Amino acid sequence: MRGFVWIAGAVSLLAQSTVAIDLTIGDDASVKSATSTIAFGLMKYYTGNRTGDVPGNLPDPYFWWEAGAMFGTMIDYWLLTGDDTYNEVTSQAMLHQAAPTRNFEPENQTRTEGNDDQGFWAMAAMSAAENNFPNPPADQPQWLALVQAVFNRYVQRYQEVEAEGSCGGGLRWQISAFNNGFNYKNSISNGCFFNIAARLARFTGNQTYADWATKVYAWEEGIGLIKPDGRVFDGVTVTDNTNCKEADIDQIQWSYNQGIFLHGAAVMTNISNGSTTTAWRGRVDNLLSATTNLFYNNSILVEQFCEPRGFCDIDQQSFKGYLTRWMAGTMQMVPDLFKTISPLLQASATAAAQACTGTPDPSEFRGIPGTACGFKWTEGGFDGLVGVGEQMNALSAIMYTLVDQVSTPVPVTASTGGTSVGDPNAGLDNAKAPGSELPPIKTGDRVAAGFLTTAILFSIMGGSAFVMI
Ligand SMILES: *[C@@H]1O[C@H](CO)[C@@H](O)[C@H](O)[C@H]1NC(C)=O
Ligand SMILES: *[C@@H]1O[C@H](CO)[C@@H](O)[C@H](O)[C@H]1NC(C)=O
Ligand SMILES: *[C@@H]1O[C@H](CO)[C@@H](O)[C@H](O)[C@H]1NC(C)=O
Ligand SMILES: *[C@@H]1O[C@H](CO)[C@@H](O)[C@H](O)[C@H]1NC(C)=O
Ligand SMILES: *[C@@H]1O[C@H](CO)[C@@H](O)[C@H](O)[C@H]1NC(C)=O
Ligand SMILES: *[C@@H]1O[C@H](CO)[C@@H](O)[C@H](O)[C@H]1NC(C)=O
Repeated sequence: MRGFVWIAGAVSLLAQSTVAIDLTIGDDASVKSATSTIAFGLMKYYTGNRTGDVPGNLPDPYFWWEAGAMFGTMIDYWLLTGDDTYNEVTSQAMLHQAAPTRNFEPENQTRTEGNDDQGFWAMAAMSAAENNFPNPPADQPQWLALVQAVFNRYVQRYQEVEAEGSCGGGLRWQISAFNNGFNYKNSISNGCFFNIAARLARFTGNQTYADWATKVYAWEEGIGLIKPDGRVFDGVTVTDNTNCKEADIDQIQWSYNQGIFLHGAAVMTNISNGSTTTAWRGRVDNLLSATTNLFYNNSILVEQFCEPRGFCDIDQQSFKGYLTRWMAGTMQMVPDLFKTISPLLQASATAAAQACTGTPDPSEFRGIPGTACGFKWTEGGFDGLVGVGEQMNALSAIMYTLVDQVSTPVPVTASTGGTSVGDPNAGLDNAKAPGSELPPIKTGDRVAAGFLTTAILFSIMGGSAFVMI
């Protein structure tokens, strides 16, 4: 796929189309029209609602987690634009992947599922609850209960780690011991736990969730994965299973790690509104300044580690969209940050729109010719890279400029109109570790297209872990 993309990009540069995304920031009609075009191009990649295909899955080379991230994006798309074209496929996908265990551990994924993979689906369900996305029929799992189910599974796994005494806590990246990455504790997995715990605390008012959010954040800080100045490092390798050493920390910074903690800390700031506010607010400010210092160049978002040198893999090509989502969520939770964050969102949106002028081969993009979005936003044009990540990033960049302090609904809670039904004990029925009855995975089984890229990156970078190797 990657080789394909490059070839397609080269061709389309020769045959530049004149169609482009027309965007005037601040003009809602213009923004909605641009997002509708980009969303159309994005959802053309989705084949899961075709007869014989599996609802919720994206075709190769996209991993399962990225589909969860995409449906989370589409739930916000509906809220912000009012366009419900994709609601039905979104519900169908989410419910199919949630079932039958009702905690986003579908059997087809259990051999390779990481805590972060599960988390991106859980965060999509959380957005559904917060947006009052249409509730599923009563005999189906409900959005809030699904998030609580994943939270409960995280607690179980975290407590197992604590019982082992491994590094004083921290979720492991992988769920199953036979997967590479079981010995890696990464910020994105713990970030998923932290983010849903904070949002569950806000939605339900239940202190237990806030306590877990506080605990996970403290672990990240204590182990050195979140620095006092707000930088978030990728993860730490557990070398002797008791001790996490400074030397074993992978210091690479990815935009989504910054964003997931920034947003969760903003939620904690919003709900603490009292003696502990200062601590959370200080964390928000530090995370935000570390984010803007490293990931924004002239106010334009750049995936700083891999984008300038052109080696972002399929997963990493989607991270900018999530940071954008969480920047917007942060200013909603801490409203005095609108003045700091809005200009970054607006500049990046304008730049992203200028990159949506591609006309790749139809085997690479089936949206409207002349509107394919490239990856780099700093070049004033289309760079030839296309895919789910590129479309989702640009969609996010543009649609989150619709978030304002007047007309945008604030995420609801159980006491401010939220209708999603919860179950604090959800998710615990399949308490057996997923995949524990399956034979260990062999390298030969790992045929997903991203693997080769990641393996090469591993040798180049000397080891950094990404979502779903
Ligand atoms: C799949 O969903 C899209 C809307 O996202 C719709 O246009 C298309 O007709 C659906 N396909 C099938 C087979 O239902
Ligand atoms: C698992 O895979 C089978 C075979 O492709 C498919 O029929 C089923 O719908 C999948 N289940 C889920 C939850 O994706
Ligand atoms: C929490 O967020 C809401 C919604 O934006 C806002 O009205 C409120 O002022 C925030 N509370 C605090 C303490 O920041
Ligand atoms: C924050 O605390 C103040 C003073 O106790 C109170 O008036 C206000 O309603 C609280 N805000 C929220 C969002 O709970
Ligand atoms: C910012 O972007 C400019 C123009 O593309 C580039 O020359 C410069 O190197 C970038 N700065 C950083 C810190 O990446
Ligand atoms: C609060 O959440 C915890 C953890 O899931 C649960 O055990 C408890 O029953 C919940 N309390 C209420 C009042 O829902």
